[in-house]
Amino acid sequence: MKWKALTASVCLATALYSTAWAQDLPQAVSTEREMVVTANPLATAAGAKVLNNGGTAADAMIAVQTVLGLVEPQSSGLGGGAFIVYYDAETGTTTTIDAREKAPAAATEDRFLDDGGNSIGFSNAWQSGLSVGVPGVPRMMELMHERYGRLPMDRLIAPAIRLARGGFELTERTSSQVAGLLARNVAGEPRLFFRDPTAFAYFTTPDGEAKPAGTLMRNRPYAETLASLARQGADAFYTGPIAADIVAAVTGDLNIPGDMALADLAGYQVIERAPVCVDYRGHEVCGMGPPSSGGIAVGQMLGILQSFDLSGFERVSVEAAHLFAQAGRLAFADRNFYVADSDFVPVPVAGLIDDDYLASRAALIGPTDMGTASPGDPPGAFGAAGPDPTIKSSGTSHVSIVDRDGNALSMTTTVESSFGNGVMVHGFLLNNELTDFSFSPTDSAGNPVANRVEAGKRPRSSMSPSIVFDDGGKVEIVTGSPGGSRIIGYTAQSIMNMIDFGLDPQEAINSPHYGNRNSNTELETAIPGVTGPGDAADLQAGLEALGHPVSVRSLTSGLSIIQVTGDGFIGGADQRRDGAVGGR
Ligand code: DON
Repeated sequence: MKWKALTASVCLATALYSTAWAQDLPQAVSTEREMVVTANPLATAAGAKVLNNGGTAADAMIAVQTVLGLVEPQSSGLGGGAFIVYYDAETGTTTTIDAREKAPAAATEDRFLDDGGNSIGFSNAWQSGLSVGVPGVPRMMELMHERYGRLPMDRLIAPAIRLARGGFELTERTSSQVAGLLARNVAGEPRLFFRDPTAFAYFTTPDGEAKPAGTLMRNRPYAETLASLARQGADAFYTGPIAADIVAAVTGDLNIPGDMALADLAGYQVIERAPVCVDYRGHEVCGMGPPSSGGIAVGQMLGILQSFDLSGFERVSVEAAHLFAQAGRLAFADRNFYVADSDFVPVPVAGLIDDDYLASRAALIGPTDMGTASPGDPPGAFGAAGPDPTIKSSGTSHVSIVDRDGNALSMTTTVESSFGNGVMVHGFLLNNELTDFSFSPTDSAGNPVANRVEAGKRPRSSMSPSIVFDDGGKVEIVTGSPGGSRIIGYTAQSIMNMIDFGLDPQEAINSPHYGNRNSNTELETAIPGVTGPGDAADLQAGLEALGHPVSVRSLTSGLSIIQVTGDGFIGGADQRRDGAVGGR
């Protein structure tokens, strides 16, 4: 209730002061019965159709995921992994699904080191068989369908099969990302970007240029793969000819062969885990725990900000950006030090989001930038480990869905970098998720890094699918974003924008980004017609006066947000990518 009143008053204020900007900016969309938001209009349409036919949020997710794997292959697909936060309306419970890629049984901690003990380098690892983790998406779709689905699988994958066979237009975004990777390989180095002849032929013209936007793309092998999934379930992927061809592609990689075995695929399991939930000003924010750092870090940022009253500040102001950046520094210091796959290393999850601990962290924030934050000493901390401050980006998508029964699904899905590791098998791309591990097993003092490579382990993620509940336990916001480790800030800022500044989902997305991952304070370069009102770059001088090292740059989130109101749904989709809202 408290929040509704706040929302109403702040929305009014916003509308009054921002009309000139708001007219040019993307506007929120309302529906009454159900809603789906994704990073691509074809995926949104597929999900909306399933919902309209009485499908559940889980059903719609399968339609969305299979279309995304076709039309946004740079970001997610069958060869990747995902995390889901799911609210089941019938039981009133929230759970999380870990479909993260995992390291093969043969993996050892020196995986990304050369014979001299030096890193083989990110690009080299990315474009190699070493970085391919055992995919989680097909098993995840099967589990979600068995548990929460209503419509038959063949109906859910029909839109993707139709598009794969009949063709779809290549987007500007995919075309330019292919061009971007080709441009990184000017020497024509056959071991690096698009080294795989199948992927190269699919994405480029006979002249070896990126296919232009609007090219009609067909992917028949993908349609066949989906059809076999519908016929035989996920076993069609994890055993038999598809599994054999994945193993052959990984172990025969033209750059550096990997070591994935048939047994790794056959043994892959999706893991259900408890959500990580924190209170934020009377709202309960639930996210994904380890192996993702997302739920803990978003929860820490909000839990730290809770010590400050933001309501008196403009959302694009030096004051708000300063506090948000300091909260980011503190959360990333802990994330880098403590968080990894909790099935392999002890992670003090409860201690990291403990109220008193977060209040003690908030007390470290002063009027000027604190500089590099050190990890704290949360209750239950396990002691010695080294930090893994590795920063990664590019190649992920976020999906938010609420169905007519009130089931809510927040999924962030990924192949890690753009086009995963660049190798195509049976119409889908393999991931390079294992580059999310620390390349070095120890820090400079020789302490083991929690996020070091280990056999069967899942690499630490930043993905932060989130569902926010009101003080009566009702679903209120479904949110999340791609963006590498910036995901944490994008997601936390979206929640702050809605709760503290009363923005609707689209306004929260349009609002310029700022943040700090315990390094520079990053301010978003304005995009006319997409970001605003206000310009984060205008904060540079004010923040520098407080001692912040500032960089102004593109901050390409891909937020997909649904707000559940008493009357229905309000949706926002990120125009920094190709986001679209659907539903009735
Ligand atoms: O799991 C992670 O945190 C990363 N692999 C996500 C990569 C990503 O978001 C790239 N996005 N644009």
